Amino acid sequence: MTAMPTTPARNVPRHIAVIMDGNGRWAERRRRPRAIGHRAGARAVNLCIDFCLEHGVQALTLFAFSSENWGRPEEEVGALMRLFLNALDREVDELERRGVRVRFIGERGRFKQQLQQRMAAAEAQTAAASHMTLVIAASYGGRQDIAQAARALAMDVAAGILRAEEIDETAVAARMALADLPPPDLFIRTGGDQRISNFLLWQLAYTELWFTDLLWPELDTATLQRALDDFASRERRFGLTSAQLTDANPEHLSA
Ligand code: FPP
Repeated sequence: MTAMPTTPARNVPRHIAVIMDGNGRWAERRRRPRAIGHRAGARAVNLCIDFCLEHGVQALTLFAFSSENWGRPEEEVGALMRLFLNALDREVDELERRGVRVRFIGERGRFKQQLQQRMAAAEAQTAAASHMTLVIAASYGGRQDIAQAARALAMDVAAGILRAEEIDETAVAARMALADLPPPDLFIRTGGDQRISNFLLWQLAYTELWFTDLLWPELDTATLQRALDDFASRERRFGLTSAQLTDANPEHLSA
């Protein structure tokens, strides 16, 4: 079924960031190889994309593979790479048709040429899509992201484009991944652990965090709806007081 974006209701997050945890445990509980869990996880990815499109979410960032995941057993890394390749081959036309712009963040140079080419092709094919941006964090690490921003700043200073005294939060933010998107309003992690695990360390500064014990392949729309309802009920103060928020229009604070 085609999920058409609706006008975002008030209090719908503009950007959701997700740690899709629990694929391995889902498979192990069924005495199946972990790769089967990742395959089941790919189905949950589609459900999550559909849900975000239906609710008018502007951007969805999924943590698909961390810098640290390279250390997993070779067999599992290989299975994940095959899964990513197949997903790109299978899904990109449909994503483009539904108005989803696909982008990748992370050290893509660590992937095999074939996968890098498919990533670039997916980005090019969907570049003009405008309903939602889907960001896949692959070989991504939050600390590595901060380090590359620091390197970019140093290079700009060395090149005379920037003075060291001009380095402020805006200058750093402009060189971080996702600089052109609104910062994540809502972070969701499945799988029961309550931590950030080196995901978007800079970008999550004022993000509302939401955790569920459900394993990623078990994800359903009711759970995502609970996360949205919880988000809508929270007061985001961005370091101010409640009274200040009612006095002023707080919209600008979330930019
Ligand atoms: C964490 O679960 C999940 C991953 C490391 C991989 C995520 C990949 C997918 C959901 C597959 C499809 C993705 C795309 C974008 C097509 P885990 O293996 O750490 O689970 P565990 O904590 O139970 O071991």
